[in-house]
Amino acid sequence: MAEAYIIDAVRTPRGRGKKGKGSLTEIHPQELLAQTLNCLAERGGIERGQVEDVVVGVVSQVGEQGGNIARNAVLAAGWPIEVPGVSLNRFCGSGLQAVNFAAMGVMSGMHELVVGGGVESMSRVPMGSDQSGSDGHNPLLAAKHFQVPQGISADLIATLEGFTREELDRFALESQQKAAVAQRENRFARSLFPVVDPVTRQVALDHDEYPRPETTMEALSQLQPAFAELGAKPVGPNGETMDEMALRIYPQAGQMKHQHTAGNSSGIVDGAAAVLLASDGYVRSHGLKARARIRAISTHGEEPLIMLTAPAETARKALRKAGMEVGDIDLWEINEAFATVPLQTIRTLGVDPARVNVNGGAIALGHPLGATGAMLLGTALDELERRGLATALVTLCIAGGQGVATIIERV
Ligand SMILES: CC(C)(COP(=O)(O)OP(=O)(O)OC[C@H]1O[C@@H](n2cnc3c(N)ncnc32)[C@H](O)[C@@H]1OP(=O)(O)O)[C@@H](O)C(=O)NCCC(=O)NCCS
Repeated sequence: MAEAYIIDAVRTPRGRGKKGKGSLTEIHPQELLAQTLNCLAERGGIERGQVEDVVVGVVSQVGEQGGNIARNAVLAAGWPIEVPGVSLNRFCGSGLQAVNFAAMGVMSGMHELVVGGGVESMSRVPMGSDQSGSDGHNPLLAAKHFQVPQGISADLIATLEGFTREELDRFALESQQKAAVAQRENRFARSLFPVVDPVTRQVALDHDEYPRPETTMEALSQLQPAFAELGAKPVGPNGETMDEMALRIYPQAGQMKHQHTAGNSSGIVDGAAAVLLASDGYVRSHGLKARARIRAISTHGEEPLIMLTAPAETARKALRKAGMEVGDIDLWEINEAFATVPLQTIRTLGVDPARVNVNGGAIALGHPLGATGAMLLGTALDELERRGLATALVTLCIAGGQGVATIIERV
């Protein structure tokens, strides 16, 4: 197998994903991605026409994000028409999956220079815009595998694990505190570029604007559970509520405790990210300097109703492929879809919490669905360099009960 090298990784800042509140909400997602691609090409010092494919993760593929946004963003960026683009959807893991597929092209020996990345404008194309629900409205599938929205799964996991509201809120507070330090110390500067308004050419946003550094335990504890109403919705064949349907499959949970709130769930934001990957031959012949290599890639599926527990086994799978142990990983990025997800992964694998999401995560910074995985890879690489460490594992939970993971190693 050939090596896939990471040449560079860039991302937009994350803008608040609500119309009228966020700084990126006026920008078409194709343009967000186009600016990201151009920043990557400029910084990577590559000839754009030599990129063999642009693989892009995007979850809500309708309207402005439909019509193969990868190809349209390549064109919007002014890249040569010879550069193709493909858009994929592995829900919240899409951005990392795109990087992984791009890397696999290089590892297979078929590609020399590829881009993997992701984009999601949650303000312009809100979550659920494709109106597919959890199961594409297929009653036969629903009878086999009843699925619920992620917030219900998160509350179910927390109930089963016995995480208290205080533990979830404490994790959220720490995410905010770590992100505040990272922003104060400019730790995101290496990947982050300022997005400009494509019409006025003025800077629209140059920093992540979702964090609330003033967050306190007291304020978090006052927030109402976000998914209790959803859990009480009648959805079963005999009018059972969402909670009752979930508890049918997980009776050991007893009673559902709704503990996730706007404060300890990932934020709704807009953003894009891209990673440049090249073969050994391309790196040498073009005098590039690789920053890291891909050590292992994995995906894994679990029971779809509980949905968000797969990162642990997905990480184990990647570690096995790399011939590594949990303790060999210097830094972990475990996507903070909900506080319970990293907490459950940390507990299941026995990870040292001091190595996890050291600059905060999606609770503080936001989770632009299709882009997050590629963003986290860049964040992990920047931090490995800053601390002089070697290896990082990035993993995300995914709808339908899936996980995706990537292990990178500095070179
Ligand atoms: C949980 C969720 C429904 C909350 O949505 P929301 O109510 O629109 O959330 P907001 O971020 O606007 O916060 C609402 C209010 O909560 C309060 N709040 C949020 N975070 C807070 C914090 N850290 N400290 C104090 N108050 C806070 C504020 O009053 C805020 O209102 P404001 O923005 O006007 O100040 C939404 O964030 C969500 O669905 N997250 C998960 C997304 C998801 O499923 N992704 C896929 C994962 S698998």
